[in-house]
Amino acid sequence: MELENVKKICVVGAGNMGHQISLKAAISGFKVTCTDVSSETLEKAKKFTELYLSESIKKGKFGEVEVENIVKNIDFMTSLDDAAKDVDFVIEAATEKLEVKRALFERLDIVCKENTILATNSSFIVSSKLADATKRPDKVINMHFFNPALVMKLVEVVKGPHVSNKTCEITMGIARKMDKIPVKLKKEIRGFVVNRILDAINNEALFLLDQDIASFEDIDIAVENGLRHPMGPFKLMDLTGIDLAYLIAMGIYKETLDQSEKPSPMVAGKFALGEWGRKTGKGFYKYD
Ligand code: CAA
Repeated sequence: MELENVKKICVVGAGNMGHQISLKAAISGFKVTCTDVSSETLEKAKKFTELYLSESIKKGKFGEVEVENIVKNIDFMTSLDDAAKDVDFVIEAATEKLEVKRALFERLDIVCKENTILATNSSFIVSSKLADATKRPDKVINMHFFNPALVMKLVEVVKGPHVSNKTCEITMGIARKMDKIPVKLKKEIRGFVVNRILDAINNEALFLLDQDIASFEDIDIAVENGLRHPMGPFKLMDLTGIDLAYLIAMGIYKETLDQSEKPSPMVAGKFALGEWGRKTGKGFYKYD
């Protein structure tokens, strides 16, 4: 398959990342099927899409006809089989659990056309852990977007040892067609480039909070004004999801049994309380 042949994309998972990846792909002219097991999550994604597009008309970003075409480009559906059966490229953005992703890739391998590329948006589960759930390991790759996916330009593309040059090239090309800036990682490493650096910052921020050196608000103010980051680490954790931070740290801990990788008590406490950030209305901060 060549890049020009990629016309139809399926996004699996309509949550924090998936709904915006779907919309960005539809805006970029791809036909998109967005699927999720939860009809409630799909409904939210649909509402977000409608709101975003109507706001975009008001902002003068798109005209009415353009919006009509974008809306025509995207279909929401709960059936994975229906969503994936005739697409050229899949971007999986489901929950960060290995067993969930392996089951999905196994199914996608059965349902999708022979030459369809299966990408995962994960940055903690490297694609070699999913590739052997399929009979097309050379077409299984990490394609990692950043939150909010409509806005953030970067996409990390990882050429694991099983990934063909062609798959990597097409994935980089699709990112560019979506108006993103792709970078290629030559080897697999958990967290890739950005989340490894972000993790170091978050761990230090949580340590400072835990030691009562400063409040989380002041740590955010310090990072925003001392390093010119657009958001301090606590605001950013609220945006990306404290549940995600917990699940990722727990996954790493279970794999390495390294105590220092365990979720911080603060993150574990908020996870248990359901204070997962913006998506639940409360994390470190409160949201309307
Ligand atoms: N979803 C979609 N679009 C959003 C958004 C959201 N949650 N928040 C803001 N935007 C859009 C706005 O609509 C606006 O768009 P227009 O220019 O078209 O009007 C634009 O972003 C700017 O928004 P604002 O003026 O309201 O606010 P801002 O200038 O403060 O920008 C921000 C908001 C883009 C979120 C900015 O604060 C920022 O860049 N924050 C850091 C984000 C970041 O670091 N992300 C990476 C997280 S790590 C990750 O994602 C990896 C992982 O695996 C977890």
